[in-house]
Amino acid sequence: MQPVDNFAPRVLAWFDEHGRKNLPWQEHRTPYRVWISEIMLQQTQVTTVIPYYQKFMASFPTVEALADAEQDEVLAHWSGLGYYARARNMHKAAKMLVDELDSELPHSVEGVCELPGIGRSTAAAILSISRGVQAAILDGNVKRVLARFHAVPTWPGEKKTENAMWDLAEHYMPSERCGDYTQAMMDLGATLCTRSKPQCLLCPLEEDCQGRLTQDPTQFPIRKPKKAAKPEKSIQLLVLTNPKGQWLLEKRPSVGIWGGLWSLPELAVEESVVLHTEQRFATQVSAVTPLSLFRHTFSHYHLDISPSQIVVSDIQLVGEGDKYQWFNPDEALAQGLPAPVRRILEQLNELGMSVR
Ligand code: ADE
Repeated sequence: MQPVDNFAPRVLAWFDEHGRKNLPWQEHRTPYRVWISEIMLQQTQVTTVIPYYQKFMASFPTVEALADAEQDEVLAHWSGLGYYARARNMHKAAKMLVDELDSELPHSVEGVCELPGIGRSTAAAILSISRGVQAAILDGNVKRVLARFHAVPTWPGEKKTENAMWDLAEHYMPSERCGDYTQAMMDLGATLCTRSKPQCLLCPLEEDCQGRLTQDPTQFPIRKPKKAAKPEKSIQLLVLTNPKGQWLLEKRPSVGIWGGLWSLPELAVEESVVLHTEQRFATQVSAVTPLSLFRHTFSHYHLDISPSQIVVSDIQLVGEGDKYQWFNPDEALAQGLPAPVRRILEQLNELGMSVR
């Protein structure tokens, strides 16, 4: 990602001819007015924001007026814009400014970032537009422009890529006309370098745009890599219950999943619960109650578990060593159990389904 020459002058020349210059927050660019506009414009289109902004400014023309307002009144002005945390944070920030900072927005990005709800890019937008501070933004629009211009080969959500893009953004920020440059980059991203139909032929950066050279600039920014789908396995787990209301637990081998924990006898989904139980445990099944199927997700696969409660006549646990053991429900729940086994047994316990 080698920076090129002449980036900002081209963007600014384009802005002078095609940029948006009559938006309401572009008149009287005080830090307060620009701050409110930038918060409203987060996640919301310019055309939606305009009438809200005008009413908001009419009701709360100064930071003191906003700080003095009741939260309900502020939220009422936000009604329909969505993402109401923005309004609550803004109101809190107005009170902080009035109470602690002499009603003056800080002059540095770090200082503005101390206010609730304001991140680095929004702070830079506010300061560059309202005070001419040389601080670069990197919002969604600018990320798209830079990712295309440099054909950035990795997803910008990765920290390393994001840091490299911040470096580029700062590098390209000119020392003069900082506010116009910020607005120009936003406008370029919003009007020409759009997500799905970029108008490259009208773009001031077209001739050395690396994304354009690939024939498909829309492949940038690279999308978030999809996680490979996890495989799915299915098993049945049996809660064998004897006439004393005890449950049969099975000790798992010390290696493998749930190693060394007390679990429940398991069988394949296609097997018959009754036949399997009667053969494996030389017993008589007197009732089968299917319980709700659920999914347990491990780091590498999904396990779909079909549990059933099986009421059996007593089982002689001969020749099995310590592998199986009957437990009263409260004793069973006091053991080290795999999470899905605990879930099944707790559910049974709550349902009072331990037969007595
Ligand atoms: N989105 C965020 N800030 C903006 C601004 N100043 N102008 C247009 N769209 C924006």
